[in-house]
Amino acid sequence: MKKLIVGNWKMNGGLLENAALVQALLQGLPRAGVEAAVCVPMPYLGQMQQLLQGSPLAWGAQDASAHEQGAYTGETSATMLRDFACRYALVGHSERRQYHGESDDTVATKAQRALAAGITPIVCVGETLAERQAGRTELVVKRQLASVVHTVGHCTSEIVVAYEPVWAIGTGQTATPEQAQAVHAVLRAQLQAATAHAGRIRILYGGSMNPANAAELLRQPDIDGGLIGGASLKAPEFLSIIASVPAAA
Ligand code: PGA
Repeated sequence: MKKLIVGNWKMNGGLLENAALVQALLQGLPRAGVEAAVCVPMPYLGQMQQLLQGSPLAWGAQDASAHEQGAYTGETSATMLRDFACRYALVGHSERRQYHGESDDTVATKAQRALAAGITPIVCVGETLAERQAGRTELVVKRQLASVVHTVGHCTSEIVVAYEPVWAIGTGQTATPEQAQAVHAVLRAQLQAATAHAGRIRILYGGSMNPANAAELLRQPDIDGGLIGGASLKAPEFLSIIASVPAAA
């Protein structure tokens, strides 16, 4: 299974910067051995389709509506994302859970809508600092993932999971490889109990991953890639993370 490195641009970018960034990425991207994608703001999906169609760099959205269609002002449905040939959609990013009140149920429905539209949901889970300090990490991430597994059923093998400890996102405070691996192993076991095809589910790590810490994180047995925020906005950094994927992977 190839490792997957996904950039999460969050609410950053513009037509000109995006074009320059993806051009630099296309020039530096290795042809084989690793898969890479960028999850961009909704208005730029058409630009990505135009610039990246047929290239080795995939693209995706940062959210997908839990609703199919209708009177949901401001929402973007998974079928709309399909019109722009998105391969991925992040669902349940902690910033969505925190600032937009997304519950486990909502996130699970979003994952289901994405799958129904042929888009791979990247399901984000992760504990807050308070939850970690209270010894509740395992409980929290298992609850978040269980909700998705329960809702999507036999399609579980089609998802990507991203473990992103909330305290590590945008803080420069990365989980140690041991801390990350321990949670990934828990998630792997949970997926194995849910589906016979757990072996093909990638579990990404996210939270202040950068060129200096990527190699060690990506060497862990249950870390199948990365979800990169800040460092994905600078081509040299994102490319350097991609280049640090262990050769044998
Ligand atoms: P970060 O963000 O790499 O800037 O910590 C990761 C994410 O939120 O996906």
